[in-house]
Amino acid sequence: MLTISDKATFKKGAALLVLTEEQVRDRRVPFLPKAISAEVGRIVKAGLFEGKRGEAVPTVLEGLTVLLLGTGKAPDITPTSLRIDLRRGFLAPALKRQRTLEVVFPQDTELQAVAAVDAFVLGTYAWKKYVTPRKDDASLKDKSVILVTRHREAAQKAVLIARAANLARDLINDNADVVTPVHIERQVRALVKGKAGISLEVLDRKKLAARKMGLILAVNQGSNKEPRVVIVRYNGGKKGEPATAFVGKGLTFDSGGLNLKPSGHMETMREDMSGAAAVVGLLKAAIDLKVRKNLIFAMGLAENAIDANAYKPGDVIRGHTGITVEVGNTDAEGRLVLADVLSYVSAVYKPGRIIDLATLTGACVVALGHDYAGLLSNDDALAQKVLKSAEATDDRCWRLPLYPEYKDAIKSKIADIKNTSNVRGAAGTISGAEFLRRFVGKTPWVHLDIAGTAFVENDSRWYYGHGATGFGVRLLSHYLLNN
Ligand code: BES
Ligand code: MN
Ligand code: ZN
Repeated sequence: MLTISDKATFKKGAALLVLTEEQVRDRRVPFLPKAISAEVGRIVKAGLFEGKRGEAVPTVLEGLTVLLLGTGKAPDITPTSLRIDLRRGFLAPALKRQRTLEVVFPQDTELQAVAAVDAFVLGTYAWKKYVTPRKDDASLKDKSVILVTRHREAAQKAVLIARAANLARDLINDNADVVTPVHIERQVRALVKGKAGISLEVLDRKKLAARKMGLILAVNQGSNKEPRVVIVRYNGGKKGEPATAFVGKGLTFDSGGLNLKPSGHMETMREDMSGAAAVVGLLKAAIDLKVRKNLIFAMGLAENAIDANAYKPGDVIRGHTGITVEVGNTDAEGRLVLADVLSYVSAVYKPGRIIDLATLTGACVVALGHDYAGLLSNDDALAQKVLKSAEATDDRCWRLPLYPEYKDAIKSKIADIKNTSNVRGAAGTISGAEFLRRFVGKTPWVHLDIAGTAFVENDSRWYYGHGATGFGVRLLSHYLLNN
């Protein structure tokens, strides 16, 4: 449990006291109670703590456990460094058994408050659904954490957003046979139930066929799961104001299809619905934050599996727009699903702008690793806005080009376009985006390739543990609140 308070009590349990080198050197921590101040002085004098980055010194004072945490020099602190350091503080062995914890920053900036919230809500998240708990496990859920800050409103918003990101993470981390298209549909139904100003359109197999959405149907053809396109219309803004549409790739599992993925490339493919999960998280954030804008949340939900009915390499398929597509590779399925959803949303909902999120290409992981998502766009102004939010939230994006020259890459001899590139092993992320571009018309559009950022296999990367990161939820919540 996390609560926000504007005053520290230093009375019971424990305190996490975050100090910069300058504060330690100049003893500039005015509001500390005398006893604690004196103890900090003794520790500093003894040379045990200088406020350097990575320092964590525990001490006990009349029943109060205090962990001194150094951040390094004040000008060197970044939101990222602070999130990483605070997470380490929260997970420190000295605080493991403490039930009540006050977190105190003598330098109480808004950025620090938000970083502290993220460090706790995102940083202490761990996917343990299938791990049998040990008897002595002290659950972080049972901890009562009091964040001491003047920036109550910013901190409370950050809590809602980080929790929405964790909802996305739960959906991504769970088994593909649990989180099916219908499961995600149910999650969305539960989120919007009874909410005024929200309407829902769910397309099942029959409706998808009636709307000629042949591409998503082809991808799902070899699966025993039912596909879905789920679209939420959120009317929080003025009537007639053009909506912003968020579209997520939701492949609940990507085996590659008949162009089967090799071992080593399939094990994490339950993550292939991370775009859709981010859209679900963003929907939750928009509801909780009461965003006053017109929004559309759309998810293309299918499974790329194989049986005798599976779609085949070389097939030519007609989608919602009527454009025909040659299947160069059944593993380039995400762009097929998105093509139908993007063109349907564009035609029926006529949004003012579209932002899609998709774990679209392995090439994006090669190009940018796990630290930056690829951003591709047909609109410089919209791209700049999203890049600004990326900077502010640490959900990092790096723009890649999208020029007319790339059109040739997806030319087909037997259909209008092809879902693979004619230039093998070159610019895979760009040809993926170029394919999607054909389905958004003239609508300003940003495509986020989150193949590298959605899921990490390191135990501790930045301030995440292993698994889903919830990438996109904080980025686009910030975008919504600031544009
Ligand atoms: N879902 C994958 C992309 C991916 C790779 C996501 C690694 C997360 C981590 C996507 O459907 C895919 O298989 N893309 C192919 C496209 C190719 C066949 C043109 C790829 O990147 O190899
Ligand atoms: Mn694939
Ligand atoms: Zn995929």
